[in-house]
Amino acid sequence: MAQSIRDDDGVSNPSNNLSLDQVVEQSLATQPARRRLLQVGLGAAALPFFAGALTGCGGSDGPAPTPPAPPAPPAPPAERMFGFSAVPTSGTDSVVVPTGYTAVAILPWGEPIHNLAPAWRPDATNSAADQEQQVGDNHDGMWFFPFNAAANALGERSDEGLLVMNHEYINPEYFYAPGSDAANWLLPMTFEKVRKALAAHGVSVAHIRRGSDGQWTHVKTSPYNRRIHGNTPMTIQGPAAGHPLLRTAADPTGTEVLGTLNNCGNGYTPWGTYLTCEENFNGYFGWNGTRTPTALDNRYGVTQGGFGYLWHLADPRFDVAATPNEPHRHGWIVEIDPFSPASKPVKRTAMGRFKHENAELVVAPNGKVVVYMGCDERNEYIYKFVSAGTFDRANPTSAANRNLLAEGTLYVARFDAGAVTGDNMGTGVWIPLVHGQNGLTEANGFPSQAEVLINTRAAADRVGATMMDRPEWVAANPRKAGEVFVTLTNNNRRGGTSSNRPDGTTVAGSARPPVDDANPRANNVWGHIIRWNEAGGDGTALTFNWDIFVMAGQPTVTDARRPSANITADNLFNSPDGLAFDSFGRMWIQTDGSYTNTGDFAGNGNNQMLAADPTTKEIRRFLVGPSGCEVTGITFTPDRTTMFVNIQHPGEVGSHPRAPRDAAGAVLNDNAIARNATAFSQWPTAGARPRSATVVVRRTDGGVVGA
Ligand code: FEO
Ligand code: CA
Ligand code: CA
Repeated sequence: MAQSIRDDDGVSNPSNNLSLDQVVEQSLATQPARRRLLQVGLGAAALPFFAGALTGCGGSDGPAPTPPAPPAPPAPPAERMFGFSAVPTSGTDSVVVPTGYTAVAILPWGEPIHNLAPAWRPDATNSAADQEQQVGDNHDGMWFFPFNAAANALGERSDEGLLVMNHEYINPEYFYAPGSDAANWLLPMTFEKVRKALAAHGVSVAHIRRGSDGQWTHVKTSPYNRRIHGNTPMTIQGPAAGHPLLRTAADPTGTEVLGTLNNCGNGYTPWGTYLTCEENFNGYFGWNGTRTPTALDNRYGVTQGGFGYLWHLADPRFDVAATPNEPHRHGWIVEIDPFSPASKPVKRTAMGRFKHENAELVVAPNGKVVVYMGCDERNEYIYKFVSAGTFDRANPTSAANRNLLAEGTLYVARFDAGAVTGDNMGTGVWIPLVHGQNGLTEANGFPSQAEVLINTRAAADRVGATMMDRPEWVAANPRKAGEVFVTLTNNNRRGGTSSNRPDGTTVAGSARPPVDDANPRANNVWGHIIRWNEAGGDGTALTFNWDIFVMAGQPTVTDARRPSANITADNLFNSPDGLAFDSFGRMWIQTDGSYTNTGDFAGNGNNQMLAADPTTKEIRRFLVGPSGCEVTGITFTPDRTTMFVNIQHPGEVGSHPRAPRDAAGAVLNDNAIARNATAFSQWPTAGARPRSATVVVRRTDGGVVGA
């Protein structure tokens, strides 16, 4: 989420639940003959192999001489959690991966999304109409939807499918050719510029295919290629749809909105849809003239100047004085069907309105769909949605399943200290955000469930949720039911005495709460990762146990800011952000933090991606990104021989140790960078301005990534 245009400002697992590894080991202790089968089956996710192998063991026609047993074939090696050597940190303008791996960039910003789209212009002079047919900017969350054999629906192929990705925002210094104002390249702001920016947000659907040489290509003639952006019509659905706070002059029904914005992390569903999560939507709004912001504006950070994009100067939709309800129509989760190119995206209001990071979906034992979500701002909250309906496992893409996110209960988390204070573990409670319960009444400003959802943050304030150190991605362990992890990226507003007020009047990001068990560091500059285990391994449970999986930081620090024991001089990182498991159970951590490589961040280098063993807590660096980037978004082919990773905003100058400077020694500002767009980074194309892109990571021997 780093956005250069704005100023943004010893642990153990308390659970007694068996991990899948432990269950497997217990089973193998009594059935050693199955060990090899199970190892193969788990590693390759090849359950049909089980069935065939076991049926081959049956039947007998009566006693017969027992022939000597043939020598057993050597067992294939079990998949290793870390089948690679850690890479060192890097401050270079390139992607670093372990020995034996390749990293190839595809689908950069501006790439034509289909064969008739205009080419990207290296001087950034493409029009808005061009951009609407090109890959968007600032790649973020992403999911690979494999095709079936006929290449026309969701399947299990690892050589062809739809790569669907978010485009979070734009970097105006690289995105626009400089205007006529020598002092500010961004001026004059025009409606055309706003439209071009809107066109670079949202989602790209790209049909991709792997050739026999192992290289992936974009199938530009495919009808599945699609851009969904900031002007794409979409439906507003759920309990808040049609509410007066969602109505505008352009949409008096409050049920149809143009576009999705600030598309950060993502989710996906077992029925084959993609979830894009609207995060810092507030930064695009501002107002002209004099206006007093509402409490709702303040709680969501809608301000007169926004983040400096200046859209409100040229498009009244983003001038809150002219269109006061437009901000309320953003901050939702949007469901998209990538297999139906003409389908209309749907904003799911039952899942709440806040600064959505990602959406991690699991199916609970009783069939309810559970979606975990973080609200990424300092001292905001962690939520989960539990569907009203149940998932039909036998017919995953059935019509009934496709509306499971339409209706359900939203909960917010409270992290309690538990039996001992100060031990980095405790207990927790999920509190329902339901009109009429827990003080969410008309007398307290919540006349209906629609208002609870439109003002989710204030509802969470009211019920006493725990303020967290900027919740980023949530990831559920596929090998241990009910175990969930969340990155808490950093928080420079922790360690004071003020808290979000229960009446919802706190201005976004202004509280400075004291440390607590779950957020134990004042001025948490490095961040940490918490995990929780739902009671009974059931995602619908209302209580959980939690502990801190890792405190990032510097091992040389031994006071209250010290990191956890699994941080060593060889795996330093700060500001964990992206987080996802692969199907083997390896947890991948991506960072969006300081790349100054000095002071608190000495030895960290550029932003990076690491693999973690959720059981042993070992963490090993796997990839380092190019200059000024953030590493975010990760997905795999089903066979895990290809990993896709997004590199966002390469070339963000910030305080990089190699930041370009002028003759007087000052770091180039955005206005100077806009006129010297290749001065800092030229990733991924030498000689050209930096562009966000997807990196395809493969092993040179074609094996499973990470193993
Ligand atoms: Fe878009 Fe919180 O990162
Ligand atoms: Ca992020
Ligand atoms: Ca505790």
